[in-house]
Amino acid sequence: MQTPKRANDYLLHIEDLYKSYGNKLILDNIDLSVTSGELCTVVGPSGCGKSTLLRIILGQEAQDRGHIHIDGKPADFPDTRRGIVYQRYSLFPNLTVLDNTLLGFNLRHNWWQRRRQRKQFEQQALHYLSRVRLEEHAGKYPHELSGGMQQRAAIAQALIMRPRILLMDEPFGALDPQTREDMQLFLLELWEQEKMTIFFVTHDLEEAAYLGTRIFVLSRFYSDERGHDEQQRGAKIVADHHLPQVASASDIKKQPAFIELLESIRRAGFDPDVLQHAREFNLQHPDAFQTLTDSETGIDKI
Ligand SMILES: Nc1ncnc2c1ncn2[C@@H]1O[C@H](COP(=O)(O)OP(=O)(O)OP(=O)(O)O)[C@@H](O)[C@H]1O
Ligand SMILES: [Mg+2]
Repeated sequence: MQTPKRANDYLLHIEDLYKSYGNKLILDNIDLSVTSGELCTVVGPSGCGKSTLLRIILGQEAQDRGHIHIDGKPADFPDTRRGIVYQRYSLFPNLTVLDNTLLGFNLRHNWWQRRRQRKQFEQQALHYLSRVRLEEHAGKYPHELSGGMQQRAAIAQALIMRPRILLMDEPFGALDPQTREDMQLFLLELWEQEKMTIFFVTHDLEEAAYLGTRIFVLSRFYSDERGHDEQQRGAKIVADHHLPQVASASDIKKQPAFIELLESIRRAGFDPDVLQHAREFNLQHPDAFQTLTDSETGIDKI
């Protein structure tokens, strides 16, 4: 079993994280650590707790137990160290693209500062809009943009605050297949140029394996020594792989090694009939670690 990592050595570090809603355990002893520059993808069956994990990392939702650190410092409340892009509704419909991008500044500065620094803020907003190829559309309202353009504006809105980590919850989930593929390529390019750290949630396995440098599989389909009552168990990271770099090569999706990888992830996380034991999860990534309790490993029964 991998030993715990030091929070100080990682950009994002989570240890012993638990979260329930009512009497239903959702996240069950989650451990993970991420270094700067990784494009991490998180997959798992619908309802397993991916968005909940993201909201906790964002500081928007409180965990029941456990620690979250960013750059070695506690991250229990939202701040500019984390940016977020949702599947939709990241943009305010009554604000132009430029004003949507400026939103973070406007919320952080008082009226006087905004007035004095408006030109400077606007220049930065236009810089980020050009990074997402929207500078020509700065004066438009969200409903005047295509779905892909709206998501690019949402990315600019998040990036302008220079977050240490960009959280994305199914950001391309509402796009048609062609736009989705274009946006995947676009995100890879932007990630390379900006040297970002990204935590990208999707329930599309192919998207996750294609985009990521690392993939986390979150699932309740596993076994341990706590007995057969599945209701008592929440989701865990059941696999954590390094992924080969495939940037820009979308035909990789048809290659046998890629298809095999998808199949192994599907078995590990998505098949309710395949219940891997918690001691045998495929946690191959060098940064992976696992802090199983005695009741999970069965030591307390010996
Ligand atoms: N605020 C809440 N109050 C009560 N239950 C909640 C709340 N938010 C989420 N849940 C429940 O927690 C579980 C995990 O939800 P979550 O939205 O995190 O899953 P998900 O993996 O993101 O699913 P999807 O792939 O469908 O987006 C679900 O059973 C959901 O019904
Ligand atoms: Mg979700």
